[in-house]
Amino acid sequence: SVHTDHVPHDAALETGKRKLRSQLWFDNPDNPGMTALYLERYLNFGLTREELMSGKPIIGIAQTGSDLSPCNRHHLDLAKRIREGITAAGGVCFEFPVHPIQETGKRPTASLDRNLAYLGLVEILYGYPLDGVVLTTGCDKTTPACIMAAATVNIPAIVLSGGPMLNGWWKGKRTGSGTIVWESRERLATGEIDYNEFMDIVASSAPSVGHCNTMGTASTMNSLAEALGMSLPGCAAIPAPYRERGQISYETGRRIVEMVWEDLKPSDILTREAFENAIVVNSAIGGSTNAPIHINAIARHIGVELDVFDWQKVGLEVPLLVNLQPAGMYLGEEYHRAGGVPAVVNELMKKGLIRENALTVNGKSIGENCRNTVVEDTDVIFPIDKPMKLNAGFVVLKGNLFDNAVMKTSVISEEFRQRYLSNPNDPEAFEGRAIVFDGPEDYHHRIEDPALEIDENCMLFMRGAGAIGYPGAAEVVNMQPPAALIKKGVHALPCIGDGRQSGTSGSPSILNASPEAAAGGGLALLRTGDRVRIDLRKGTADILISDEELNQRRADLQAHGGYKYPGSQTPWQEIQRGMVDQLGSGMVLKPAVKYQKVAQT
Ligand code: FES
Ligand code: MG
Repeated sequence: SVHTDHVPHDAALETGKRKLRSQLWFDNPDNPGMTALYLERYLNFGLTREELMSGKPIIGIAQTGSDLSPCNRHHLDLAKRIREGITAAGGVCFEFPVHPIQETGKRPTASLDRNLAYLGLVEILYGYPLDGVVLTTGCDKTTPACIMAAATVNIPAIVLSGGPMLNGWWKGKRTGSGTIVWESRERLATGEIDYNEFMDIVASSAPSVGHCNTMGTASTMNSLAEALGMSLPGCAAIPAPYRERGQISYETGRRIVEMVWEDLKPSDILTREAFENAIVVNSAIGGSTNAPIHINAIARHIGVELDVFDWQKVGLEVPLLVNLQPAGMYLGEEYHRAGGVPAVVNELMKKGLIRENALTVNGKSIGENCRNTVVEDTDVIFPIDKPMKLNAGFVVLKGNLFDNAVMKTSVISEEFRQRYLSNPNDPEAFEGRAIVFDGPEDYHHRIEDPALEIDENCMLFMRGAGAIGYPGAAEVVNMQPPAALIKKGVHALPCIGDGRQSGTSGSPSILNASPEAAAGGGLALLRTGDRVRIDLRKGTADILISDEELNQRRADLQAHGGYKYPGSQTPWQEIQRGMVDQLGSGMVLKPAVKYQKVAQT
C-alpha cells in the first residue's frame, strides 16, 4: 500500500531553476562575510561546499524520537531511510532534535509541552537555512506540535508518521494501548487482579517500537494528518516495525525535495476543505476527543476559520466505520491491513462526505489518491452502507456551566445509553446530583468517601483541570465510579469537566469545557449537591439554579479572589498560563497566532 507514484523527478527539476531560501545563507554574493561564516561551520563534519552552494534543496528532518520519547524513538532509525530518499532526489539533509513530548512520561502532563515544542520548532524552521522539512510524528502531541510550527513558518513540509506498535496480546485477547489500563484498573479496584498482574497485563500492550496501537490520540492525529493531506497516502496506519514503514520513509524523503521545487507549502494544503475532511474522518475512525483541540490549533496557526461547533456541524452525522479500540475491538495491525485512511476515505467518498479536491503533499487531490482503495476486511473497516454506528461524531454542548464542551458519541455504551439516555419522556437527556472534584488529587482522595453518597443518579465533575488550572490540561475527566458502584454493575457515571481525557478511553465524558473554572467559567460556581441537566438533543448543559443565585455565587467567588488552583512549578508553566487560550479554541498561545507564514518575506 505504499504509493510510489509521484511527479517525475526530472519534471520537478525543470521547475527548479529559482534560487532557494537556503541560498540566503550559503550562497549570497551580496554578503560574503556572513556567507563564509554560515558555510564554514557546516563543513566541519564533512559536508562539501558543492553540496551547500550548488542550490540543492536543504531539507530538515525534525526528529521527535529519543530515549525519553519511546513512542517516537523508531524515527532515529527511520531517519536513515528519509535521508536516503532526500539524497536520491538531489537534496541535502539536516537532522535536528525537537523538544521531546512523551505522553506517558512527562509530568505534570505532556500537553503542557505541545506549545513549547511548537515554539522551538518555529524558531528552528524560521532561523536556519531550511527549504523544506520532514516532520516525524507519532505520540499524541508531537503531531500537532510539528504541523502547527510548519503552518506558522509555511515552508514545504511533509509528515512522516512513526506508526503504531504491533498488536498487544494477553491470554489470547488483544490488549490495546491505554484502553487496557482503563479496563484493568477497574478489575484491580474490585480485587479481581493484583498489582503485579495489573503491571504484566498493561506491559503486554507495548510489544514493539511504535506509538499507541489503539485509536487513541496518536493514531487519531496521524490519521488526521493524512486526511489533511500532509502525509503520503497510506502513511498513518503502517505499523512501526513493518518494512513498508521504512519504504514510505524513503518515499517521504524523495517527495519533500520535489515539494521544494514545486513550492508546495502548508498553506496550499491546509485549507478549510482539508480541515472539514479531518473532522469527517475523525468521526469515521472513532477518533480522540483531543483531536478538536489540536486540529483547531493548526487551523488557527494557518489562518483558517474553524471552531469547536464545526465539529458537530460537519462531523456529528458521519457514521463510525473503523472497528478499533476504544470504540471497537481491533488494533493497528488490522487497521493497516484493512486499508487504513485511504480505504476509510474511499468509503466516505461514496456518500459524498469528502471534499475531494483538497490538495495533498503528493501533488494530487485526496479524491485522486483514495478513489477505489478497496477495504480488505469489512469487519475492521465497515462499508459506508452498513456502518458500525450512525451519527458517530461529537456533540458540542453549552449552557451556564460552560460556553462549549465536547462529547464523543461513538463510545456511548449500551449500558450508559439504557441508564441515562433512554427515558421515553425525556429522550437523550438526563439530570443528576453533582459531585464536584477540584483536580485529580482531590478525586483520588475522596472518590471512595461514603459521606458523598455517590449512586447512579450522580454526575462526577472535574474542574481545575484545564489549560490554566492544571497547566496544559490534564487527561482526568474519565473518572471511575467508586468500587461499590462498579461491583453493582455501574461501570460509568456521567463525567463532566474542564480537563481532557485520554483518546484511548471509552468513556463518553463531556470534556474540554471552556472556559475552564480557572478562567472564570460556570464550573467554578458549581457545588456538590446541585442538580445538573444535560440535553444532547438541545446541546445544553446547565446547573438548575436561578440566574440570581448564580450571580450571587459569582460575586461571592470574586470577593474571595476567584477560583483557586495550585501555583506553577516551572517557568514554562507560568509563562504559558499567562497567554494560553482555552481548550475549545485550540489551547494555542494567543500572541503566537498573529505570526503567520513567517518564512515568506
Ligand atoms: Fe505515546 Fe500513546 S503514549 S502514542
Ligand atoms: Mg493521552
